[in-house]
Amino acid sequence: MSILFTPAKIGNLEIPNRIIRSATAELMADDLDGKATEKLKSLWGDLAKGGTGLIISGHLYVHPSGKCHHEMAGIYADELIPALKECVDAVHQAGGKIAAQINHGGMQCDLEETIAPSAIDEDFLEGPAREITTDEIEMLIDAFAQAARRAKAAGFDAVQIHSAHGYLVSQFNSPYVNKRTDEWGGDLQGRTRFLREVAGAIREEVGAEYPVFIKFGMEDGKEGGLSAEEGAEIISMMENMSLDGIEISGGVGANSVQKGIRNASKEAYFRPLIQFARQKTNLPLIIVGGMRSKAVMEEVLSSGDADFVSMCRPLINDPNFPNLFKEGKIERSDCISSSNCWTETLGEGISCKCPPLKS
Ligand SMILES: Cc1cc2nc3c(=O)[nH]c(=O)nc-3n(C[C@H](O)[C@H](O)[C@H](O)COP(=O)(O)O)c2cc1C
Repeated sequence: MSILFTPAKIGNLEIPNRIIRSATAELMADDLDGKATEKLKSLWGDLAKGGTGLIISGHLYVHPSGKCHHEMAGIYADELIPALKECVDAVHQAGGKIAAQINHGGMQCDLEETIAPSAIDEDFLEGPAREITTDEIEMLIDAFAQAARRAKAAGFDAVQIHSAHGYLVSQFNSPYVNKRTDEWGGDLQGRTRFLREVAGAIREEVGAEYPVFIKFGMEDGKEGGLSAEEGAEIISMMENMSLDGIEISGGVGANSVQKGIRNASKEAYFRPLIQFARQKTNLPLIIVGGMRSKAVMEEVLSSGDADFVSMCRPLINDPNFPNLFKEGKIERSDCISSSNCWTETLGEGISCKCPPLKS
């Protein structure tokens, strides 16, 4: 029996195999209010039927000021719970499990005015942004906690905090973006205060038993940004934040999604980061980034570097591919990793638009 198809846990959540669908913005919500749609329900149902052990939703905005792009799904109001619950029910009816990824885009939002830990106007992330006030910080910590409460009420099996790819939580961690001199900035304790308070407020809201984990950008990949050394130090604090697991990512914007993963040597591109993380924590670790072939996945899991493998583009290419792995019909995803899945056309949703892999 392949290690890929053995069960493992994140906190109290038992996951039947080691394959996770990493959070993937589906572009399938109502563009006006972020309400989940039938199209989203159908996609999540297909992913559950396809054999993915745990689906992580596309990032859900916790407050209207954190909406990153068109047709992003929201979780900022109780009125959004029933439609989300319908989508979650479709996953459970198909025997699957699903976590809600909760996010605030900070300065990476498609809005007239965006906020960031400090005022910033340069190419590193989308800008310009104005400095967030301390009252707004407190308000957004509560927005994350309320979003987690709504996720639990909608039936999600877990919540994942998005602290990667240059969105608000990771902006606070980053010395490049966070130049604050008050208690929300400065040294690592100051810069991680937002994350620690978000995690604490969520835990208080959902209780000790509910699984809460994180997608963590361990380094910015930019001079003056968060380094892997500081990222590793933050990881060593995470058990004390009462988090149940960590998905290790890195980079901001396009740097977090590498293209052209055509052979095993290009796969698992964040493996050096996760090996470093492994030295700092006993929490379950999830590897993301260029996981494509069964052999590489099995080797990463067997080595103990990761407890789960997480994938985005291969599951856009074919939501059924975990079943094909299990049945021994394929040994590698057909995804050629050109990142043509996004669309700016309203109503289209993400889809695979790459030519089929030539064998
Ligand atoms: C179309 C698309 C949408 C994405 N949406 C999200 C998201 O909502 N939240 C997130 O944390 N990462 C998101 N990502 C990043 C993926 O979760 C993942 O970290 C990255 O694509 C690397 O994995 P892969 O090589 O398996 O695609 C997205 C990536 C793509 C291509």
